[in-house]
Formats: sequence, structure tokens, C-alpha cells
Amino acid sequence: MLYPQQMYVLKRIILFLRRLIYLARSHPIESAFVVSVIIAALLPLRQPSIKGYPYLHLTEIKDDLQMCLVTRRPPDFKLCPLVARELSTFKHANININDSLLQEMPVKFKIQSGGRWFPKNCSSWQRVAVIVPYRNRENQLKVFLQHMHPFLQAQRLDYGIFVIEQSEKHSFNRGKLFNIGYLEASKEPDFCCFIFHDVDLLPESPQHIYGCSEEPRHMCSALDSFRYVLPYPELFGGVVAFTKEQFSNVNGFSNMYFGWGGEDDDLYERLCSKQIRVRRWAPEISRYTMLYHAKEIPNPTRHMLLRTSVQRLEVDGLSTLEYKILKTELKPLYTHILVDVKPR
Ligand code: BGC
Repeated sequence: MLYPQQMYVLKRIILFLRRLIYLARSHPIESAFVVSVIIAALLPLRQPSIKGYPYLHLTEIKDDLQMCLVTRRPPDFKLCPLVARELSTFKHANININDSLLQEMPVKFKIQSGGRWFPKNCSSWQRVAVIVPYRNRENQLKVFLQHMHPFLQAQRLDYGIFVIEQSEKHSFNRGKLFNIGYLEASKEPDFCCFIFHDVDLLPESPQHIYGCSEEPRHMCSALDSFRYVLPYPELFGGVVAFTKEQFSNVNGFSNMYFGWGGEDDDLYERLCSKQIRVRRWAPEISRYTMLYHAKEIPNPTRHMLLRTSVQRLEVDGLSTLEYKILKTELKPLYTHILVDVKPR
């Protein structure tokens, strides 16, 4: 038996449902519209999907990593462990600037000028160049550096961080800055893996090893700002990892995308045209935090450029890259390269 108050609530609910049914019958089109709007509004709240795209499980990662031993190390050195124990404490990305930590970092973490480091008592699997395109994001760069150095060191990687800043002229060209960073870092021997990395993205999982895979890897497939759901299977933005061979095989990024968007989709097209598949690791380890920033202005010509992406592959990229270095400086936590992307 129901109490009178419960009966009252039940009656009100039945009445409300009857009214809804009546409304839906008398105004079917409007009702369908309202229902669609409600569903569309609720869609972003869905749980992260672990289906929808193929990925490698945690247990398969070790076999996926390519080994390119650094030649300057004695050959009998033992290989470094892939995931260091101390990383287990490294759970959440700190998004607040810690100025005193930044000051202490070169000494505390024994970072060499230019943002280089390598482990002293074991041999890294790969020598990795982290390439970061940059303009006017000073605070984000600080957070990025304070996060990445301990993260990369705990993985016992031999690494260098290169920040490629575009001079004030012209709108931002992310793809071209990556190409420039790749060529400049390649002037140093032994870098065999290149991680093309946005400054506003912080890896969350200690098991997400910053090394290169058998195939180019899309590293940030689970982003907090997308509720850790991959919005579309062809997404190839944010952070990607390429070996030298993989990157030169597709002639790098296109140089033609000025402004926001498209250059990463273009790179994906290049890979498809060469029948190269994109690799991803399990969503639980491919998680990233995005630092807040205002939305950029999209490049209006990106869709048009994308349509001819494959035709331009050989004549637009590393092979046709023109730029002028305005300044190179070995800063305590990174190598800073200021460039003019359109010297003529
Ligand atoms: C843009 C990409 C971007 C993606 C996700 C696409 O519309 O073309 O450059 O990575 O949206 O934000």
C-alpha cells in the first residue's frame, strides 16, 4: 500500500506523462525537435568509449616500441626499464605554475642546457626529440616544462625539448613549425624518435611511454576536453610520434596551413595515401589534460587545402621547406628556436 503523499506524487507523474503524450500527438514535429535537442545536449555526457577504434593493450606496448640505441653509449650497457617505479606516484597533472620548482629544476633534475637529459646508469631505448610549436603561451610553457621533465626522466628516456617559436609576422603555422623543429633537431646526431607536441597538453598516465612505435602513433587519443572520447577515428591532432623514416616517408607536414586546424587531418591523409596505419595505445594510458585557452580562429581555407592534400604530398612538406632562423638559444629547460616561417 502507498501512503497518501506517495499516491499524490504518483498521480502527478501520471498526469505529467499524459500531458507529454498529448503534446507529442498534437505537435509531432515540434516534439521530435525538442527530443533531438535534449539528446544532442546529453551526448557529451556519455561515458568514454573504449570501443570504436583499434588500439594496443598495455601488455602489447613493450613489443610495439622500436629500439634505436644511442651510439654514444657503450654497447654493453644494460637497457633501461620501460616504466620506472617512482612513476606510480605521478597520477595527476599539476596545472598550476610552480615558480620555485622551475628555478630549481636544472640542478634538481640535472638537466643540461638546451633541455637535454639522459640516464647515467642504463641505456635508453630511444633518443627522443620533443618538438613544441609556440607563440605567446608563456604560462602554458612553464606548466608544460615543469610537468614534462620529471615525466620523461622517470621513463629513463634520452631526450631533448625543442620549442619552435614563430615570429610575430603571419598567422600561426603549426605544421611548418613542426617541420622546422624536425630538421633543426635532426642536425644533432642520434635523435631517432620525434614527438610533435602541443604546449597545452599534459600526459596523465605514467605508463604512456614517450617513444616511437612500429607505425606513427596518435598519442593523445583520450583528451579530457573531449571527455576522454575520441571524437572521430581519423583525428590525428595534439601529440603524435614518428620515427625519422616514418616522417620523411610522408614528406612531413604540409607547410600551407596558416591559422587553426586542418594540418593534422592533412598529415593523416598523407599516411592513408601511403597505406600507413595509425597506431594508438589503450585509452586508459592515452589520457591527456588540456590547459585552458581561448578558442583560436579557424583557417577558412583548410577544407579546400585538405581536398588536394594527397596531390601536394611530394611538393609541399620537408622537401620544400623555407624558413629563416632568427635566434637559437640553449635555455636551461629547453632549446629555443625563433623562426620566420615566410622569409620571402
Ligand atoms: C580540425 C583539426 C583538429 C580537430 C579537433 C578538426 O576540425 O581540422 O585540426 O585537430 O578538429 O579539434
